[in-house]
Amino acid sequence: MSGMDVVIMAAGKGTRMKSRTPKVLHTLGGVPLIEHVIKVSKSLGARRQVVVVGHEASKVQAALAHHEDLMFALQEPQLGTGHALQSAAAHLPVLPNAGCTLVLSGDVPLIGLNTLQALVAASKEQHLTLLTLKTSSPQGYGRIVRTPNANRQVLGIVEEKDASPQERLIEEIYVGVMVIPNAHLHAWLAALNNNNAQQEYYLTDLVAMAVAAKLEVHTHACLDPNEVAGVNDPAQLAHLERAYQRNVAGQLMHAGARLADPARIDVRGEVVVGQDVEIDVGCVFEGRVVLGDGVKIGAHCVVSNAHLSADVVVKPFTHIQGESSAHLITVGEAAQLGPYARLRAGTVLGAEVHIGNFVEIKNSTLGVGSKANHLAYLGDSVVGDRVNVGAGSITANYDGANKHKTVIEDDVHVGSNSVLVAPVTIARGGTVGAGSVISKDTQAGALTLTRAKAASLAHWSRPQKKPTNPSSG
Ligand code: UD1
Ligand code: CA
Repeated sequence: MSGMDVVIMAAGKGTRMKSRTPKVLHTLGGVPLIEHVIKVSKSLGARRQVVVVGHEASKVQAALAHHEDLMFALQEPQLGTGHALQSAAAHLPVLPNAGCTLVLSGDVPLIGLNTLQALVAASKEQHLTLLTLKTSSPQGYGRIVRTPNANRQVLGIVEEKDASPQERLIEEIYVGVMVIPNAHLHAWLAALNNNNAQQEYYLTDLVAMAVAAKLEVHTHACLDPNEVAGVNDPAQLAHLERAYQRNVAGQLMHAGARLADPARIDVRGEVVVGQDVEIDVGCVFEGRVVLGDGVKIGAHCVVSNAHLSADVVVKPFTHIQGESSAHLITVGEAAQLGPYARLRAGTVLGAEVHIGNFVEIKNSTLGVGSKANHLAYLGDSVVGDRVNVGAGSITANYDGANKHKTVIEDDVHVGSNSVLVAPVTIARGGTVGAGSVISKDTQAGALTLTRAKAASLAHWSRPQKKPTNPSSG
């Protein structure tokens, strides 16, 4: 398909979203609407991709700056879809017979690759071709007007606001996606006018022009209404989000994952699963998540940018917060996390590590079999194998200005409620007595503790409450 260019229209205001965010930057599956369209468009192998921006153009353009191969056309002011294409025309080839242009909308996120391939195939890159949908609720859409005879040839598209009561009964609609032969593109765009109910330049008027020039107009019918549904308001966005999530849940189950309820999972990114993965209800996955064979995720976990090795068990309400798909949190085989654990960026856990309730780990590595089961904080630490961190113990890694490192070597036991004041090293096999504040490096194998001597007063009588006077009320 070397001869195809794509124009993605994204200049409209999106008033009904009632939002400060431009419509095409609202997210679906964790990704801006227009990114879904760009992804499909890229898979088509187009020659050029032009995004028409207008309303909040700089915000939209900045959000798409990471795509090096996109071209932007500014449409200012926005005078309709035909005017949007006129604004993009400078980027499109002017040679006769130079392939075709596929027009997409930035706010129709679920448009499928197969559908677009079929549409372009139907156009043979040389016929004006419309993507259509049969629907019993055509309100608001352009209607496909055909000849009354048996040929049912396309005569034009009439917009809702310009349609006669008779035309409004037509249940075949234009969904906003068309293929235009480049041989006619520039001449047709130049001939558009705005003599219509909305005083806009309608791209849909190209159809009547093609018919007048006795050229064939083809249609390709899409069978899935969600694929061609546009996002105009928050309710439509939520509706499409559910459709998208049902789809992703279906793919996960197809890959063998067992979901407690496919309607109660949210994937805002990409989840890759091994065999025998189980996911309970209410979990949210963000960024890139890889779940090895036999991983079990309990209810209501949030897992972002993480690689969980085989047989990891994540108990309910655990939050795994990797910062980006380039920096995954990694968890070794058969580790157990939660309930109510929190792993932050830079966490690397070895096999069979246990992280229990209300334990926070940040930028730290824990070796094989180490455990922090209750109410602990490990930050900027390197923890060896078989270490046990007692309940309520923390690393004091921040002195108010800088972060410092804590090293806890193999086989150390840190007693409950201890503070390890970084920078500090607890040497191999050492024990820290409960309730200690350790600010100097300790000896291997030693018991180290800082603890006030207990004082005990015999026969101590506690203060008594004065009897209350009932009349004082
Ligand atoms: C358009 C079609 C209508 C079709 C419908 C499908 C026209 C005249 N009508 O309707 O037949 O049924 O799509 O959804 O084409 N845009 C710009 N610049 C503008 C106007 C719009 O870039 O000046 C962009 C919008 O951001 C949006 C897309 O074009 O991505 C469609 O615009 P929208 O106003 O939603 O379409 P309609 O004119 O209602
Ligand atoms: Ca419009």
